[in-house]
Amino acid sequence: MSPLAHEADLVVFGGTGDLSMRKLLPALFHSDLEGRLAPQTRIIAMSRGGLDDADFRGKVDSEVRQSVPDESEAWQRFLGRLHHVSVDVGGDDTSGWAALTRLLAGHEQRDRVFYLASPPMTFGPFCRDLHGAGLITPQSRVVLEKPLGRDLASSQLINAEVGRYFAEEQIFRIDHYLGKETVQNLLVLRFANAFLEPIWNSLWIDHVQITAAESVGTPGRRGYYDHAGALRDMVQNHLLQLLTLTAMEPPARNDREAIRDEKVKVLQALRPIVGDEVSRFTVRGQYDGYLDEPSSTPPTELSKRVETFTAIRAEVKNWRWSGVPFYLRTGKRMPYRRSEIVIQFKDVPHAIFPGGSPNRLVIRLQPEEGIELHIMAKEPGAGEVTLKPVPLKLSFGQTFTARVPEAYERLLSDVLAGNPTLFMRRDEVEAAWRWIDPILEAWESSSELPEPYPGGTTGPAGAHELLGRSGRAWHEEETP
Ligand code: BG6
Repeated sequence: MSPLAHEADLVVFGGTGDLSMRKLLPALFHSDLEGRLAPQTRIIAMSRGGLDDADFRGKVDSEVRQSVPDESEAWQRFLGRLHHVSVDVGGDDTSGWAALTRLLAGHEQRDRVFYLASPPMTFGPFCRDLHGAGLITPQSRVVLEKPLGRDLASSQLINAEVGRYFAEEQIFRIDHYLGKETVQNLLVLRFANAFLEPIWNSLWIDHVQITAAESVGTPGRRGYYDHAGALRDMVQNHLLQLLTLTAMEPPARNDREAIRDEKVKVLQALRPIVGDEVSRFTVRGQYDGYLDEPSSTPPTELSKRVETFTAIRAEVKNWRWSGVPFYLRTGKRMPYRRSEIVIQFKDVPHAIFPGGSPNRLVIRLQPEEGIELHIMAKEPGAGEVTLKPVPLKLSFGQTFTARVPEAYERLLSDVLAGNPTLFMRRDEVEAAWRWIDPILEAWESSSELPEPYPGGTTGPAGAHELLGRSGRAWHEEETP
C-alpha cells in the first residue's frame, strides 16, 4: 500500500450520476488495485435515488465493471467499500442526513472528503446541511466540480457560500485537465530542462496556439449546454489553465502555493478584451444540426445563440510575452479529437537556404500524449539543398511502458493525500472569470448569432480569418 493512503470516508454527492459512474468509480477502482486506498476507506454515494447499499453495489457491478480491469477478487473488495445514502438536500426531510451521521459516527479521525459531483446551485445548500448535521471535521475536505458559476458574480457567490463552512485549504476545485499526464509533463518540460528557458519568450516565439477539439457533438446534453457554451464549458477553465502553465514564470518551489501564485499572475496579466474588440478578437460558431440534436429538452432561443465553437486571440501583457498572441480554440463536431499546445517559433534571423519554415513545438495532450519538435532538415540528395520540416517525436506511450492514468485518478489521489497543487484556488477561478465576463457580456448583448459551420470541419471561416489577418494559420495535420 502506498504510504500516502490514509483511512478515508469519501462521500460523493451525485454519486449515482454520469460523472461518478463513468469517471470517479473506475478511477477509484484503479487506485484500489494499485494500493492507493487504505483497507478501511469507504466510498459513500449520496443521491435522491432511494437505493440501499445492495442496490448501489448491484448498479455499480452492472454499469462499471465492464470498463475496468477484470480482477474479480479486487472487484469484490471494492464493492465492499461502497455504500449509499438517500438524501434530500436543502429540503425538510432530514432522515438522509441522520443516516449519513450514523454511518460516519466513530470515524471522526479519518480524512473526510465530500465530493460534490452535482450542479453548482447545490453546493451552498449541501455545505450548509453538512454543517447543520455537524459532519465537517478538521480533517474534512470538499471537492467542487465545474462549472463553478456562470460568471464572476455567481462564482463569487458559490465561493462565499462554500467558504462559510470550509477554509480555503479544505476546498479542492477540480479542473480535470490538470490531472492529465501531459499537462503535468508541461511543467517538467519547462522547469526540468534548461534548453527551453532562454527561448521561451517573445524574442523567439511568434505565437502560441491552444486547441481542444472534439469530434463529438452534444447529444443529450442540450439542457446543460444551452446555458454553458464553449466559452464557459472549456475556455474559462481548461484552456485558460493550459495557457497559465505555458506562460507562467518558473516557480521557486514545486509546491501548492508557489505554482498557483505564478498561474494567477498570468491570469491577471491577460489583456481584457472589451467593447468592439470582442468582435475582432473572438469568434463563435455553432455546428449545423445543433438544434436537431436528440435531447430531452426542445431547442429554445438560447439554443440558437449558444456557441459550440470559439476561437480567441488572447494576449499576456508582461515582459516575457508582450506582443505574442495566444490563440485559443475549442469546438464540438470538429474532424478529430485532439488537445494540444503549439509553440510557433519565429523564423531564423537570416535565411541562407531557400524554402525553410520556422520551428514548431507541439505538446499533445490527447490522443497519443507526446511532444514533437518540428525542425528543418536537408532532404538527402546530391543536388540543390532542399529543406524539409521533420518532427523529433517523443511518444509517452511508446517511451514509458507504465499505464497512463486517467486524469481523475491522479486528482482523486491528490485529494485523498490532501495535496491541492493541481486544483484551482479561489483567486485563480475568479481571475479567469474576470477576463471571460466582458466577452460573455458582449456576445449576450449582440444581435448576431454564432457563425454556422458544417459538422466535421475545423470551425467557421472567422476562426481562420482570426489568424489569417496576420498571415498565420492554425496548426493542422493528418487526422491520427
Ligand atoms: C468537460 C466539458 O469539462 O470536458 C465537456 O464539460 C468536454 O463538454 C470535456 O467534452 C472534454 O474533456 P476531455 O478530457 O475529453 O478533453
